[in-house]
Amino acid sequence: MRRRFIAGNWKMFNGPSATSEFMSAFVPKLASSEDIASNINKGMMEVAVFAPFVSLDAATKGKEGSPLIVGAQNMHWEKSGAFTGEVSAPMLKELGCTHVIIGHSERRHIFRETSEDLHKKLLAALEENLTPVFCVGELLEERESGSTFDVIRKQLMAGLKVMDGSDVADKIIVAYEPVWAIGTGKTASSEDAQEVCAFIRKLLADTFGEGVAEKTIILYGGSVKPENTASILSMKDIDGVLVGGASLKPDSFLGIAKAAVQ
Ligand code: PGA
Repeated sequence: MRRRFIAGNWKMFNGPSATSEFMSAFVPKLASSEDIASNINKGMMEVAVFAPFVSLDAATKGKEGSPLIVGAQNMHWEKSGAFTGEVSAPMLKELGCTHVIIGHSERRHIFRETSEDLHKKLLAALEENLTPVFCVGELLEERESGSTFDVIRKQLMAGLKVMDGSDVADKIIVAYEPVWAIGTGKTASSEDAQEVCAFIRKLLADTFGEGVAEKTIILYGGSVKPENTASILSMKDIDGVLVGGASLKPDSFLGIAKAAVQ
């Protein structure tokens, strides 16, 4: 059975003090919620927060002793160099990060990151043993014009090209986030999300083999809340959720983790 992966993407919210406050409230709640703690201990679930760069130190210090995972939302592909404003994978590791989001739709569309950039970032993350959460997703006009599967195929294959199947299965998490469902309150129906996640798994099977496809963790993201988590996770090919707005408050994020207990 694949483990569940419950991820909070804080975006440009929760600075260092808000992060410390979040950790002081969330970490004890996570530990005392018996069903979640037991799922985590048995390796059936992982819970992660992806904090802004400046809050990562507060996050890793605040979670000390807890199995909560701390990750970053972006990184550069070079280890160091003249790249003003950028942060590298070794720097993230030094802060205690183990995971990093690559290719979130806001990075693709607002900051114009290309598939080639994202491919380089994925390779650089793997080289440093950071687990990338690699995001793919179509725009509303792409869905309406019937090109969803084409867009997903191109984004996924451009990111994962030349990779080893075992890296994909063991070290990469894929997140399907339809852009029209992000921060809009419009969730894709569980069936629509399942259809695309099943398509992703099939692409992985065709490219890397059944074994890899069966092992790979695939998340859905876009207006996930405590109330719709169980229905989304009841779908066969959806192993977890990537949550924006509803991950900012400890109780709501905990509600999502509770709904994910298996
Ligand atoms: P949302 O964001 O849950 O606020 O829709 C999801 C995401 O962008 O990862």
